[in-house]
Amino acid sequence: MSTLTEIPAARRLTGAVCVVTGAARGIGLAIAERFAAEGGRIACLDMGAARLQSAVAGLVGRGIEARAYEADVGRRDAVAAAFDAVERDFGAPVGVLVNNAVWARFQPLDEVDEDSVDRMFDVGLKGLIWTMQSAAPQMKRRGSGAIVNLSSTSALQAMPNAIAYAAMKAGVLGLTRAAAVELSPWGIRVNAIVPGMIGTPASVGKFDEATVRARLATMPLGRFGEPQEIAAVAAFLASDDSRYMQGAALVADGGWTVATR
Ligand SMILES: NC(=O)c1ccc[n+]([C@@H]2O[C@H](COP(=O)([O-])OP(=O)(O)OC[C@H]3O[C@@H](n4cnc5c(N)ncnc54)[C@H](O)[C@@H]3O)[C@@H](O)[C@H]2O)c1
Repeated sequence: MSTLTEIPAARRLTGAVCVVTGAARGIGLAIAERFAAEGGRIACLDMGAARLQSAVAGLVGRGIEARAYEADVGRRDAVAAAFDAVERDFGAPVGVLVNNAVWARFQPLDEVDEDSVDRMFDVGLKGLIWTMQSAAPQMKRRGSGAIVNLSSTSALQAMPNAIAYAAMKAGVLGLTRAAAVELSPWGIRVNAIVPGMIGTPASVGKFDEATVRARLATMPLGRFGEPQEIAAVAAFLASDDSRYMQGAALVADGGWTVATR
């Protein structure tokens, strides 16, 4: 199997200003890299200041047009200010938005606390509303746009200790569909990705060996996904290659959710 970096990107996003939230690491950073390879101009929005600066410095060092925007997606005013700054800095309205930022805590029901649920929903649900609210006027002026929201297989199948996370990620599918219908008249498409288990430090990186073995045994493709494989799906949904897709959810999980156990 060839690696994704060996497959030349088709430069499907040439010139588009692309905002990627949570772009300082993991899947978000892989999306920023892939979109740059597709010709996009990249606005990395994250609240992890040091990590964000070093990720963007790494991109710029490789000749990528990328800028850092430090903002908490859970704060409507901060998001609005960041999107104003993006349009000013790039001299063009936003054409692509990827809602990837997440704050997650996995707890059994009897330990779920109010602060964690508030934070999870602020970042993973309200945050998507604020970014779409700020991006939509720019996309309307531009005459088109593509929004890609990151859900999770937790929205489709039960995972241990994931009540709040499952609610959040199922909510992402609902708001994706609602926004798709509302924004259709302006040529703005809104779709979701439903990743399975992806090898990022925040996810698989936290499993012990026994958990890794147990999870792999349930996966038809026999491996975890790579951030670059989710980035490839995001590039498809952000580009005109998916121009007849609206309000859809693309599952990329190595067959995990369709397998009989
Ligand atoms: N990794 C997986 O296995 C997996 C599986 C299914 C879905 N997903 C989804 O994919 C997305 C990325 O996952 P990941 O594993 O790369 O996550 P991650 O935790 O590695 O990265 C998340 C990024 O979001 C940023 N962030 C957190 N709160 C923020 C806020 N309030 N404002 C702005 N930025 C904020 C963090 O600083 C971090 O850089 C998430 O939406 C996640 O739920 C991941």
